[in-house]
Amino acid sequence: MTDKERIITAKEKQEDKTLDATLRPTNLKEFFGQQKIKDNLLIFMEAARQRSEPIEHVLLYGPPGLGKTTLAHIIAHEMGSSIRVTSGPAIERAGDLAAILTNLQDGDILFIDEIHRLNKVIEEVLYPAMEDYALDIVIGKGPSARTLRLDLPKFTIIGATTRYNLLSSPLRNRFGSTYRLDYYDQPEIEQILHRSARILAIELLKEACQMIAARSRLTPRVANRLLKRVRDYVQVKGDGKISPDLCAEALSLLDVDQEGLDTLDRKILEAIIQKFKGGPVGVNSIAAAIQEEEGTIEEIYEPYLMQLGFLMRTPRGRVVTELGYKHLGLEVPSELQSKLL
Ligand SMILES: Nc1ncnc2c1ncn2[C@@H]1O[C@H](COP(=O)(O)OP(=O)(O)OP(=O)(O)O)[C@@H](O)[C@H]1O
Ligand SMILES: [Mg+2]
Repeated sequence: MTDKERIITAKEKQEDKTLDATLRPTNLKEFFGQQKIKDNLLIFMEAARQRSEPIEHVLLYGPPGLGKTTLAHIIAHEMGSSIRVTSGPAIERAGDLAAILTNLQDGDILFIDEIHRLNKVIEEVLYPAMEDYALDIVIGKGPSARTLRLDLPKFTIIGATTRYNLLSSPLRNRFGSTYRLDYYDQPEIEQILHRSARILAIELLKEACQMIAARSRLTPRVANRLLKRVRDYVQVKGDGKISPDLCAEALSLLDVDQEGLDTLDRKILEAIIQKFKGGPVGVNSIAAAIQEEEGTIEEIYEPYLMQLGFLMRTPRGRVVTELGYKHLGLEVPSELQSKLL
């Protein structure tokens, strides 16, 4: 099994797409959680409005499925701006970017998803565009080449990334504000699930909601996906109402444990314990041991295992914690404390 095939992958699956369109909140009121970010955004948007200026460039980062794309659209909606959507890998040549930028209007928002995947040449074109709303175009080649500076509309870039550390520092520095989205807490996920159930017109009993939330990896995208699976199950097996009993039955078919871990998560913990004595071990060795890409481990698996406190990053590598051993039902080794220092 790869990450793509997992029911609880935080990455967007094909089956999420139609669901996303109906469940994605369009204003800040319906965007639950991330309170600090919302407070900041409200002030920042109001200030821009009072000055009749476009908002500064915003960078959103954090694990997949936590609401970066959703927030970008909400900001555009709240500012009454048009939003143009593109992504790092989609902009291959400087000319592609020039075409996008020159077609924007004052106050427009350009959303660049996976901004860590922009190539260096494009980044260089982006710097003056972000700083001075200017585009430097080189005309001709060789000694007769000259640069022409074009003025651009006063636009705002919203960048999103799951891999903040892959962003070059000159690019990071050109954002007026940077927000890190973090995992939600259980009550926030429950609020999101109740809202989704309302929109989908299904009755979701409180206890069932708690069960789904517990397995959601504290990630709205996963919560909504599980809700949809459970809904399908109760539609076939029951009367359409999501009762705790039916919910538990539906969830038990999905290879997700009480903490939201599946076989692959457990495989990582087990590999570290069995092959590397519980760590510390480098992520490259873990990747080789379970035949998964290093980047996927860092982006998808690790953040949630660390959030649960099952895994720790130490200067010498990854270490399985006491909670991690206990979750797998294994005895905690006596020398563990010294490894965590
Ligand atoms: N705070 C929230 N309140 C309600 N629903 C949310 C919230 N955040 C996310 N969602 C739901 O979760 C889905 C996934 O969110 P979104 O696509 O914005 O994640 P993302 O951070 O952009 O992920 P990726 O890194 O994969 O691009 C949304 O379609 C929306 O339905
Ligand atoms: Mg996104």
